[in-house]
Amino acid sequence: MEKLYEGKAKILYPTDDPEVLLTQFKDDATAFNALKKGTIVGKGEINCTISTALFQWLESVGISTHFIAQPAPTQMLVRRVKIIPLEVVVRNIAAGSLCRQTGLVEGQILPFPLVEFYLKNDELGDPLLTSDRLLILDLSTPDQVEELKSLALKINQHLSNFFNSCQITLVDFKLEFGLDSQGKLLLADEISPDTCRLWDHTENDPREKVLDKDRFRRDLGQVEAAYQEVQQRVLEKIASEKP
Ligand code: C5P
Repeated sequence: MEKLYEGKAKILYPTDDPEVLLTQFKDDATAFNALKKGTIVGKGEINCTISTALFQWLESVGISTHFIAQPAPTQMLVRRVKIIPLEVVVRNIAAGSLCRQTGLVEGQILPFPLVEFYLKNDELGDPLLTSDRLLILDLSTPDQVEELKSLALKINQHLSNFFNSCQITLVDFKLEFGLDSQGKLLLADEISPDTCRLWDHTENDPREKVLDKDRFRRDLGQVEAAYQEVQQRVLEKIASEKP
């Protein structure tokens, strides 16, 4: 089948329905803007399954997403959207680039959830945007920025509660949004250990508690096992909520 687009972690294919695309999740892993490359065995299936579970769960609490179905373990049918070229990052606890850029200590609980906008542009290294840069780049109107911010905060509240009940702390995560053919704003892309920092409540050891892509970024080992652990807890939590 002819590819529409191939990214670092997923391939997009057209379908017979012009409003629907097929996403193929890959095992390929990249970090540091693709300077580090590798494979996480089974990642495609795990991330597709976790994203499916979380998108369905978010839909059940009123968040509109691009998710339609998971026709195969590594495949997701999604509504075709025009992706807004922004990475919306929400942080509850200081980690990663926030610590590197500001000197905040990793693990420090932030006084309020921090919402940041980064330009989705690999060549430019996905730079952090200011609100005026957002307007100058004409990526969104002030109203859209506010809408994205409040939606991201709402999703953070839902996901933080969800992960808490899985004994996992949602440290930070990245979201992408798109507009469908009616101009409706939908949560897109994926929500997985590739795009979230997830710390195990049941572990105190700062290396052992990491259940996300930082295991790959920081060569902590046991990457597959961590992704599987997240999948198991997410699916168990969802199964326990079914009537
Ligand atoms: O690297 P940084 O600390 O800015 O990442 C914040 C959060 O956004 C992390 O959960 C990371 O996995 C996610 N992220 C992502 N894709 C990017 C950049 C960050 O999923 N291109």
